[in-house]
Amino acid sequence: MNPLSDTRGRLLRDLRISVTDRCNFRCPYCMPAEIFGERYQFLPKPELLRFEEIERLARLFVDCGVRKVRITGGEPLLRAELPQLVARLAAIDELHDLTLTTNGTLLADRAQALKDAGLHRVTVSLDSHDEDVFRRMSGRDVGPGRVLAGIEAAAAAGLGPVKVNCVIQRGENEEAIVDLARFFRGTGHILRFIEFMDVGTLNDWNLDKVVTAKSILERIHAEFPIDPVEPSYPGEVARRYRYRDGCGEIGIIASVSAPFCGDCTRARLTTDGKLVTCLFATGGVDLRGPMREGASDAELRERIAGVWDRRTDRYSEERSSRTGVSPSRERIEMYQIGG
Ligand SMILES: C[S@@+](CC[C@H](N)C(=O)[O-])C[C@H]1O[C@@H](n2cnc3c(N)ncnc32)[C@H](O)[C@@H]1O
Ligand code: SF4
Repeated sequence: MNPLSDTRGRLLRDLRISVTDRCNFRCPYCMPAEIFGERYQFLPKPELLRFEEIERLARLFVDCGVRKVRITGGEPLLRAELPQLVARLAAIDELHDLTLTTNGTLLADRAQALKDAGLHRVTVSLDSHDEDVFRRMSGRDVGPGRVLAGIEAAAAAGLGPVKVNCVIQRGENEEAIVDLARFFRGTGHILRFIEFMDVGTLNDWNLDKVVTAKSILERIHAEFPIDPVEPSYPGEVARRYRYRDGCGEIGIIASVSAPFCGDCTRARLTTDGKLVTCLFATGGVDLRGPMREGASDAELRERIAGVWDRRTDRYSEERSSRTGVSPSRERIEMYQIGG
């Protein structure tokens, strides 16, 4: 089957699969503790896609053009027996890249099993390596030690180069820009800064809280001079920069100040089996229901194709054209689709 192409000629190439809506952190910009308290009702187990269902859908997405899969959440390492899912996905021939995004707290113990199951690489989120800032930004009474140990274990297991994602928020962790650059230079891990986005409806986003890619790059360049590098492949979301002194590279994801909707080839599968075509979507199209009611592969492929063929999303560009005001509407939350 030819890769699917949407109304703007964008091919379907990447799939993010959220394997759980639960998390052991309460990052205020994603799952604020006031809302996600002890009594918060996460999805009951029967609502979650089972591993065989995820594998079946992943194979159908691959038939439709997907070549890269990223496992995410919530915190994906909370999903029991995750290496079994990794092994199922790794066995899909045409899948060229199989990765996972994690907050890293459970990674030190699981890295080798994930590698053995066939995972290619990991991305670890780390918003600061300062004890106090980390505690505040993770919403939990833990320091960054376990995350740093997870990054090292992943590299040692062969899951590298490890990408380290850092979301910068004005007034919260701006000092992490230079601190983390200094910390990770020369380690072989690739630090990537992400502009704070208006994903979901819970994080009180406004443009003043965004530190732009330009400002982040200027601060790094002033300490450690950098030069731009060509993208590794067309449509790469992170812009790449290399330290002039040869101490490695960094990336920057300027989703607010320089939206890349025009190149977006990414679909998302929620924990409960909905197909979502944009990080800022209001909802998704159910695949689990028809699958559990006995739909054939051809019928499910047709459903996927029907969604992608009609896809018109360009949310970040729309936000940009409104000079940074987020179009007000309901939106799926980040922990449901995993970034
Ligand atoms: C939703 S998390 C899921 C995976 C895992 N729990 C983790 O934190 O890596 C995926 C990524 O989304 C990022 N993220 C969450 N909310 C965000 C926001 N409002 N703006 C930018 N990035 C965000 C997180 O920092 C993380 O790197
Ligand atoms: S960003 Fe990741 S670690 Fe933080 S609350 Fe969201 S899902 Fe959990």
